[in-house]
Amino acid sequence: MEQRRRILVTSALPYANGSIHLGHLVEYIQTDIWVRFQRLIGNECYYMCADDTHGTPIMISARKQNIPPEELISKMYTEHLRDFSAFRISFDNYYSTNSEENREFCEYIYSEAKQKGAIYEKEIEQYYCEHDGMFLPDRMIKGICPRCKAEDQYGDNCETCSATYDPTELISPFCAICGAKPIIKKSTHYYFKLSNFTNELREWVSQDHLRPEIKNKLQEWFTQGIKDWDISRDAPYFGFKIPGTENKYFYVWLDAPVGYIATTKNWCKSKGINFDEIWRGKDFEIHHFIGKDILYFHTLFWPAMLMVSGFSTPTKVNIHGFLTVNGEKMSKSRGTFMNASDYLKHVDPEFLRYYYAAKLGAGVDDLDLNLSDFVFRINSDVLGKVVNIGSRLGKIVNKKLNNALGEIDAQGASILDEMRKALPKIANYYETLDYNKAMREIMPLADIVNKYINDTAPWELVKTDEKKAQSVCTTGLNGLYLLTGMLKPVLPRIAEGVEKFLNIPSMNWESLKKPITQHKINEYERLAERIELSTVEKILGTKQES
Ligand code: MSP
Ligand code: ZN
Repeated sequence: MEQRRRILVTSALPYANGSIHLGHLVEYIQTDIWVRFQRLIGNECYYMCADDTHGTPIMISARKQNIPPEELISKMYTEHLRDFSAFRISFDNYYSTNSEENREFCEYIYSEAKQKGAIYEKEIEQYYCEHDGMFLPDRMIKGICPRCKAEDQYGDNCETCSATYDPTELISPFCAICGAKPIIKKSTHYYFKLSNFTNELREWVSQDHLRPEIKNKLQEWFTQGIKDWDISRDAPYFGFKIPGTENKYFYVWLDAPVGYIATTKNWCKSKGINFDEIWRGKDFEIHHFIGKDILYFHTLFWPAMLMVSGFSTPTKVNIHGFLTVNGEKMSKSRGTFMNASDYLKHVDPEFLRYYYAAKLGAGVDDLDLNLSDFVFRINSDVLGKVVNIGSRLGKIVNKKLNNALGEIDAQGASILDEMRKALPKIANYYETLDYNKAMREIMPLADIVNKYINDTAPWELVKTDEKKAQSVCTTGLNGLYLLTGMLKPVLPRIAEGVEKFLNIPSMNWESLKKPITQHKINEYERLAERIELSTVEKILGTKQES
């Protein structure tokens, strides 16, 4: 047998100032399927995540609600965890970046960087709002686009003409919080000398950690030259103070990825697992899952921070595209915004997992949630092809055959063998994140089982030849067993339902190789319900003024 791999997996840490929406879930579902697959084939696999709690937007949100930021983030923590559990995202630890562990690791990494000469100070000029008493990040300044003259554009880029610029280039800038005209003020900032790591990063990028199209993107960045990174922010700021300074804080993007390490540490403590084996040893693979918008942070800044402080660099950074809804960007003003909690009021979470699996490939392409297609696929694949086998055969075995499975005849054995032959191919698709291909491999197998059941018509057979009917049902339910085993990373709840129905221990990839015969099963309970478009449409937010 191959050696059992040891794997640490992370998803990006969601910001603590917003609810989980269906866009986020592309990532958490993609990651969770991979994690569950690794566990299913017998690898040691731990899944770490946390809320990303620091930064100006969270501080401002809390101010607006008149509560301390700690209260805001603890409220959101509970909400996030509730939504993730409902979608069966199987974190081993879900923590917070506002933790003592995280502070310690940030300070450690900073001091290592400082010792190695990778930190320097520089005075810069920035917009400052005298009314709010704070420096304004790019997203908190608005004004007229210097290029196309569109009004009400953010300080870093124009949504009308897509120009990117420096906030000081904006015409008639104003503070996005209070509307006052900002002044320009000097401040000393701390920089991380990313340019020191150009060679090491080039080397890391040339290895097998990223897909080819991402490597190409990074080559472009190297060609343009790697810029140093401003890692500090002035008070007031919700975050960790930089040691040895009076009023400077670590920029949220410094402490956020360190949250991956801190979350692991927190979990290791409670489990008695050796932390150094994971983040400082060679035994563990480290896999990050992220969206394409945060590529730069994870493929340049983050590996450099790990390099400077002697932690393991990522084995893989997996990058997915963005969700659109009915072909449009998900947006509140278009009425295409979908919150996780609204989805949960109307539709089975298992269905979104299946739909994303059916659409997700390994690349960075965006994926579209088309609601009629969603309804069609769920009813035809999950209900019509998989669940249906259970409801049809369950009835016969429960009512007519005394709950007993019997033997499998030659025809049945050859069908099941054919299904098992697909296992390595399907496993490989899961491994390489080609979930859409895995689903396209599995569903035709379901067609074979359904055709076999239609052709043999056990509901008729049972009237004349119980033995034959029992053998057909045994084959059919072994088909269901194989299908739900193959789909278990995607449909964990339905798989558990089948385990209960078939009265078997928790299935894994290995157990699928052996048929279930001469065995008493349980009463069939419905595994899932058909859906209708009108129900699914209820999830869509009502249009709001943006
Ligand atoms: N807090 C940062 C990540 C810090 S990681 C050290 C962040 N948070 S986020 O809440 O904005 O996004 C979390 C993840 O969800 C990101 O990987 C992001 O790409 C992903 N998505 C957010 N909206 C998305 C879609 N509409 N579609 C697909 N993925 C999306 O970024
Ligand atoms: Zn202001």
